[in-house]
Amino acid sequence: MAPERVIAGEVQEDDSRLDTSLRPRALADFPGQDRVKDQLLIAIEAARQRGEPLDHVLFYGPPGLGKTTLANIIASEMRVSIRTTSGPAIERAGDVAAILTNLEPEDVLFIDELHRLPRIVEEVLYPAMEDFALDIMIGRGPGARSVRLNMPRFTLIGATTRYALLSPPLRDRFGSVYRLDFYDVPTMERIVTRSASMLAVDIADGATHELARRSRGTPRVANRLLKRVRDYAQVRGDGAITEALASEALAQIGVDELGLDDVDHRVLLAIIEKFDGGPVGLETLAASISEDADTIMDVYEPFLLQLGFIQRTPRGRVATRHAYAHLGISPPRGRLQTQMFE
Ligand SMILES: Nc1ncnc2c1ncn2[C@@H]1O[C@H](COP(=O)(O)OP(=O)(O)O)[C@@H](O)[C@H]1O
Ligand SMILES: [Mg+2]
Repeated sequence: MAPERVIAGEVQEDDSRLDTSLRPRALADFPGQDRVKDQLLIAIEAARQRGEPLDHVLFYGPPGLGKTTLANIIASEMRVSIRTTSGPAIERAGDVAAILTNLEPEDVLFIDELHRLPRIVEEVLYPAMEDFALDIMIGRGPGARSVRLNMPRFTLIGATTRYALLSPPLRDRFGSVYRLDFYDVPTMERIVTRSASMLAVDIADGATHELARRSRGTPRVANRLLKRVRDYAQVRGDGAITEALASEALAQIGVDELGLDDVDHRVLLAIIEKFDGGPVGLETLAASISEDADTIMDVYEPFLLQLGFIQRTPRGRVATRHAYAHLGISPPRGRLQTQMFE
């Protein structure tokens, strides 16, 4: 039986409940991303002193790092309401016009998956973001004319895993743009400790470290693994998560020493075995292991790149010697050294 997925993408219903229940509510309660938090604190304080809405904010980065959480925190720190929607959910210009006209002054509108917003909808957003105005077309054909309606001042918060897919005019209309990075191990330990205490589960320091180290620098993954390990400790032990139980549980789930799972392994093995180490195009690679190319790109690839296990070249993905070493496969001589490593 294939190990169950534990990675950050594809938020299932159970996970979204977990996401909500473990979500930090204030900046002070949000470990990590210090640079982003410092800048947000200043911007929020300044906007509040002036009695103005916060400038539009864009978050980008891999799934599970806190984009949605930060959007909610901003609204709560600004003491305003948040209206949440997502790019693919808004199909027509009229949909977004209806959402915008229903906002209260200073509200936050959060649009997740911003890169999937249809272009016609984007065009309605431009004057809204810039001038807090809506340009509505009245009538059809030669008699049609455009009328400008004023709307309440608001803050748009966008989130995306694909910064490069946003059109430049949309990007340019955000007052601040923040990239979220993977968390380091000490910060992941703080997150695991925090989640364990919220779930009221007893966890040994060694187990916290193990989970922190094997969660791909991603809080959502840490929370999922923590829940799985808690189940394991409850059934195989007395409920307390010891280091030994944590390691056993992670091995059973199919998470390796670095936090890589079955799909990561299949990606790396495919590049190495089916495509001689690469380069191989993303679509070809994804098809060869029957996975969705977008999922590979959004969810798996960023962490493999971060580990230095793969490289993106103009001709496709290439496995590095670190990937060979991790999988215990000896790299083909000569070719690897000359072609890929300086
Ligand atoms: N810095 C953090 N500290 C603690 N938990 C976090 C942090 N960032 C994210 N999380 C948790 O991870 C989960 C996923 O976060 P989310 O904001 O939904 O990620 P994204 O929107 O970037 O995919 C949430 O349950 C949240 O509780
Ligand atoms: Mg999100």
